[in-house]
Amino acid sequence: MKEQDIAILEQKFQEKIDNDIKIEPNDWMPDAYRNTLIRQISQHAHSEIVGMLPEGNWITRAPNLRRKAVLLAKVQDEAGHGLYLYSATETLGADREQTIDDLHSGVAKYSSIFNYPTLSWADMGAVGWLVDGAAIMNQVPLCRCSYGPYARAMVRVCKEESFHQRQGFEIMMKLAAGTPEQKEMAQDALNRFWWPAIMMFGPNDAESKHTAQSMKWKIKRHTNDELRQQFIDVTVPQAELIGLTIPDPLLKFNEATGHYEHGPIDWDEFWEVVKGNGPCNKDRVDARRKAKENGLWVRQAALAHAEKKKLRKQAS
Ligand code: 3HC
Repeated sequence: MKEQDIAILEQKFQEKIDNDIKIEPNDWMPDAYRNTLIRQISQHAHSEIVGMLPEGNWITRAPNLRRKAVLLAKVQDEAGHGLYLYSATETLGADREQTIDDLHSGVAKYSSIFNYPTLSWADMGAVGWLVDGAAIMNQVPLCRCSYGPYARAMVRVCKEESFHQRQGFEIMMKLAAGTPEQKEMAQDALNRFWWPAIMMFGPNDAESKHTAQSMKWKIKRHTNDELRQQFIDVTVPQAELIGLTIPDPLLKFNEATGHYEHGPIDWDEFWEVVKGNGPCNKDRVDARRKAKENGLWVRQAALAHAEKKKLRKQAS
């Protein structure tokens, strides 16, 4: 196709974006738009699936049947979120097998937060409250993403995320109001998950290589720093409400701006974890690889059954 024709198509495409007209799978789109969506949505899907592991670790050790049922429901929801998002990548032409292999080979990323261990039951509270709380902050704007299938998947995901955040905060509230040992367990979980949770939003805007273009294409509606700030402003009062202390001695409310100012984020730690050198990176990817190997017989049986059904239908 001539350069001139592509330029006209790109201009028409950007006009649709500027006028908030959703881009659908069969619409023309620049390769770069397609590729950055496959990158972001596949990594989002990987995050949902890998995110099941830290919490799955506590299903058999939940303190009572109600907590077990709630945690089980949450982990099952995450699997569904992963399925929606892998399906959304397929509407862009991505191959499901290749996408999953990219996770197992380390080519693809998933959210840094899931490379931290869950050491106590209170961590189930901290993960629901902080990680799903951060995910909601980041996913609600994605309901207005310019790419139709992603935006629609996010509407369903966000409804379930609010249950995830609420059940986590309820765990923290109960523990904080419990015995001194329970309150200490909740504070310890907050101490370990606070900084990794605010790193979830990605590097500062000045360091973010995708934000500017993603904002122009309305894939992102807010920048990493804007969402991080929103999360901090909402979450600090919640911690104060239940008598827990945010582990940041420099945290202070700025009356003039109406925002909390916080201490420096350890970006060296962040990039080390993103590069694969976090506490649990190897365990997480090994677990996903093993799940694929152990599930091979199920996929083979399902395919054999489908083939037999197709042959029977043809014969009838
Ligand atoms: N963990 C791992 N990698 C990260 C990261 C994080 N927290 N934040 C940024 N990165 C990576 C980016 O993927 C990019 O690398 P790449 O080019 O190889 O993909 C690089 O760091 C530069 O970051 P940018 O800010 O320029 O990248 P993005 O514009 O893609 O912004 C993002 C990063 C904010 C995570 C964005 O991709 C996004 O909004 N993704 C969709 C939401 C999502 O994936 N959330 C993760 C958690 S899902 C979850 O928590 C599920 C819940 O149910 C528990």
